[in-house]
Amino acid sequence: MRKKITVVGAGNVGATVAQRLFERGYADIVLVDIVEGLPQGKALDMLESGPVLGTDSKITGTNSYEDTANSDVVVITAGIARKPGMSRDDLLFTNMDIVGGVAEQVARYSPESIIIVVSNPLDAMAQQALDITKFPRERVIGMAGILDTARFRTFLSEAVNASVEDVQAYVLGGHGDTMVPLVQSTNVAGIPISKLLAPDVLEPIVQRARDGGAEIVGLLKTGSAFYAPSAAVAQMVDSIILDKKRIVPCAAYLKGEYGIDGLYIGVPVKLGAKGIEEIIEVELSTDEKANLDNSAAAVTELIDVMSKRGS
Ligand code: APR
Repeated sequence: MRKKITVVGAGNVGATVAQRLFERGYADIVLVDIVEGLPQGKALDMLESGPVLGTDSKITGTNSYEDTANSDVVVITAGIARKPGMSRDDLLFTNMDIVGGVAEQVARYSPESIIIVVSNPLDAMAQQALDITKFPRERVIGMAGILDTARFRTFLSEAVNASVEDVQAYVLGGHGDTMVPLVQSTNVAGIPISKLLAPDVLEPIVQRARDGGAEIVGLLKTGSAFYAPSAAVAQMVDSIILDKKRIVPCAAYLKGEYGIDGLYIGVPVKLGAKGIEEIIEVELSTDEKANLDNSAAAVTELIDVMSKRGS
């Protein structure tokens, strides 16, 4: 029997995630949304691509969580997206309610699932899903680091004129203005980036990666990025469903790792069939550690706002 993956939210991110996973052919997909007809229509359209693509997986759309029962993985993309001028944090209260409601249903119908949260503000929404489901932290993971790192790697590969595959980097921290690209360990086929790019070239690239989401929002005007985010989600799902044990940056609930306790933040994790199988502690420079702490403080502020509203 194939694995079962539910994608909640049939908008830009959710539908593209569903498409990427359906085309992989290793799982049946259920696409859920509150809008009637939307997930059904998109799912049927994707299903009808199966004969051309050669995938025998099933994909169905629904407005009812009963159809999602016993999913192995649930990707939560439900919520509103940014418009120009908005920060991810401006979405907090609306998406807190939406993600909270979704998480309740996921806990009820798929109590053994691994949840990947995509809705923004990412770190706070992952926390919300963890609080509501009461799942162990290994099974509630936020998608951000792979995306932020992919943006950084894209711009670096253009600057050094080398394949994106040979540019290795990590972006850690919260999924916001304070994210932390680890410049010192960034390398191209093992050569430190500092040997290839002068600081005055590197610094604008770091900043462009930080502002990567806003750059897309500014261009699209009516929504936010979804092609790169959905690719990042699919890499996480691959690692879980195929038990690949990839080590990738994701938002994880830290319990003392990196000196941070009781908070979601982007760090390298090993992803396998059990979800987060290990949190990898890489050595950070003094500056990088200070930047990570600064980023953690920004996430803490949001969590405080959320918990004050909740009480
Ligand atoms: N349950 C299920 N689906 C919902 C719910 C809910 N309670 N509330 C809203 N939705 C659906 C909407 O009907 C819409 O189809 O979520 C979908 C969101 O789609 P888009 O507006 O296209 O937003 P998208 O670009 O997909 O972004 C979704 O991911 O990257 C983040 O910041 C982004 O928080 C945003 C989320």
